[in-house]
Amino acid sequence: MKKIYVFICMLVCVLMACKKEQQPTNELETEVSELLSKMTLDEKIGQLNLRGTSSRVKGQLPDSLKQAVRDGKIGAFLNVTNTEHVDELQRIAVEESPNKIPLIFARDVIHGYKTIFPIPLGMAASWDAQVAKNSSRVAAIEASSFGIRWTFAPMLDIARDSRWGRIAESPGEDPFLASNLTKAYVEGFQGDSLNDPTSMIACAKHFIGYGAAIGGRDYNTAIISDAQLHNIYLPPFKSAVDAGSQTLMTSFNEMNGIPASGDRRMLTTVLREEFGFDGFVVSDWESVEEMIPHGFATDLKHAAELSLNAGLNMEMTSKAFEKYTKNLLKEGKITETQINSLVADILRVKLRMGLFEKPYRVDKSDNLYADAHLQMAKEAAIESSVLLKNKNNVLPITTRKKIAVIGPLADKPREQLGTWTFDGDGTYTKTPINAFQSNNVNYNFVEGLSYSRDKSTKDFSKAVAAAKNSDVIVFIGGEEAILSGEAHSRANINLPGAQEQLIKELAKTGKPIVLIIMAGRPITLGNILKDVDAVLMTWHPGTMGGPAIHDMIFGIAEPKGRLPVTWPKVAGQLPLFYNHKNTGRPVIPEEFVQMDSIPIGAWQSSLGNTTHYLDVGYLPQYPFGYGLGYTKFVYSKTAVSSSTITKNNDIMVKVIVTNVGERKGTDIVQLYVQDVVGRITRPVRELKGYQKVTLEPNEQKEVTFTLSLDDLKYYDNQEKLNVEKGEFKVWIGQNSAVGISAKFSYE
Ligand code: GLC
Repeated sequence: MKKIYVFICMLVCVLMACKKEQQPTNELETEVSELLSKMTLDEKIGQLNLRGTSSRVKGQLPDSLKQAVRDGKIGAFLNVTNTEHVDELQRIAVEESPNKIPLIFARDVIHGYKTIFPIPLGMAASWDAQVAKNSSRVAAIEASSFGIRWTFAPMLDIARDSRWGRIAESPGEDPFLASNLTKAYVEGFQGDSLNDPTSMIACAKHFIGYGAAIGGRDYNTAIISDAQLHNIYLPPFKSAVDAGSQTLMTSFNEMNGIPASGDRRMLTTVLREEFGFDGFVVSDWESVEEMIPHGFATDLKHAAELSLNAGLNMEMTSKAFEKYTKNLLKEGKITETQINSLVADILRVKLRMGLFEKPYRVDKSDNLYADAHLQMAKEAAIESSVLLKNKNNVLPITTRKKIAVIGPLADKPREQLGTWTFDGDGTYTKTPINAFQSNNVNYNFVEGLSYSRDKSTKDFSKAVAAAKNSDVIVFIGGEEAILSGEAHSRANINLPGAQEQLIKELAKTGKPIVLIIMAGRPITLGNILKDVDAVLMTWHPGTMGGPAIHDMIFGIAEPKGRLPVTWPKVAGQLPLFYNHKNTGRPVIPEEFVQMDSIPIGAWQSSLGNTTHYLDVGYLPQYPFGYGLGYTKFVYSKTAVSSSTITKNNDIMVKVIVTNVGERKGTDIVQLYVQDVVGRITRPVRELKGYQKVTLEPNEQKEVTFTLSLDDLKYYDNQEKLNVEKGEFKVWIGQNSAVGISAKFSYE
């Protein structure tokens, strides 16, 4: 009898909890309104404040900070990593402040909290929503133990320029791939229910256009047409809102002359009215105040007026709202109705999070670095790694061979975690050397260079000697973590330091070289590509990068990644992306004359007048979607189910994929479409679908994609979403530069 009673009680609790989460909007709005009606103006303004504290605050919290919380003058905190401080601040808020409104504690938990997954650009290379979801779910479980219930992720800035340091955090260059991963990230961070103690509310950032910074120079100007805005930069944010992301963050940059934190069109018209977003928007670090140096606000009070009127809810770390909201109200520059609406958005999210019922963190810190977390991080590193070159199938290495491990990143626990890993602990990192040791690999390790920027050649002779006494060289190099990420753009994106020089010295030994790159961006390889036999891009692979690299180079696992960004030959080609326009003078390969082949004294108009560079030509080093595996796939018989698509008739596009190699393998089958003629010019290709297939040797699979008319719609420069009748081309292939084509039309 007792068991049934307990079961019924549990069932009621579960239903109540779910009820809270899915409670009808009007009940939630009633709660919001009731709370709002009890709040003073000071308290309302307090909710608009995200106070930054250094995560290095030791000992007692300043009394002034505690008093501000007691007075209800702070709505949320950033970077409070001392759990005693978290608990004390929350206790003051929920027990001593006027209306007991709980605080939210935030942190940048971008690709893991303690267990670190590959950098987001790496996870984008997995083309795998489950990888994204695993990383964000694990991050939420680990971080929420420390009271962190709000993460400033996923970063959704489409990036087409590898010079930009923050490409490392981005989902890459394609809006379709980015949007698919976004849904998974938001679901992973927020979990099945926002009021679950392990749920962390997501923050889609940076809204908007941050990745379009001119020259790849961080924080710089973005000039984006309305068509590009809607077709390229907005889709991942729409995906985040549709997935239920509770917050967004405005970006540092201006877009077309308007700094993001003061952009009413984006924050209100697009985000609220078009997207239907009902969470809240936080500014990036002091970006409200930065409207002054932008030359958009005359002073801090004007910055507050512009941001509040744009529809910005919460100000990160600068104090324009705290200082000037009351004055602006008195002067009629903003209204109490506006303030109430901005505060209501924040209260709504706090109520959805269940913070009023369960304000305190649930400590499950025994789950940090759990075996399951580490296993998922290792799998993510394998799914993210991209095999770019494999001459004579030098990979996988048979374990009988003697290996010379050389390079500055073979045993650097912190570096392999990558950017935005404040809480990752290098002592838990498994480096490649750790993995070779624990797997009894027959190797000899000589760094040759002590860090990625090291220019000293003093240890080259030792490295060369080790190479001579080996069967194969595994060079593990790339970039230290600090060379990508925020404010860390590079104009020259070659291997830093003397790495290229060392590789050339090693190549003189005649031994095969496997180059393994750990970096936050594509690295231009032109100077050494012919000196190496294989190139494996692991990005910054995270805590379990070592075991992942071990398993991949010895063939226990196959690198499964495909490039989420175009890989340039030289930085001078950037920005470079696959979904470019055809132009009026598209390249004609047979007419292109490479600079060194131009006859001396050639007549000016004797060369092909098409869009190319005389020196590096017109192709990237590797195209978007590219990646090799350890077997070989053949694609045949691309067919469309009909030659015409209509409003009521979707079409199917099929291909037969066959594994003609000797081992099981995985490929990512990609579907690209070209709208040949539009009212504005259209890209030469756009990714419209992809499927991961794993086949045994000689196994065949028919892969089918369905295209609807909605899949073909695009925004023109009047922000009108439509598609014209006419011809469409379709390709199914292994990357954005190849594929078997077919045609259909919209009648
Ligand atoms: C930084 C970043 C942003 C981050 C925020 C808080 O400057 O631009 O992505 O979430 O400040 O650390």
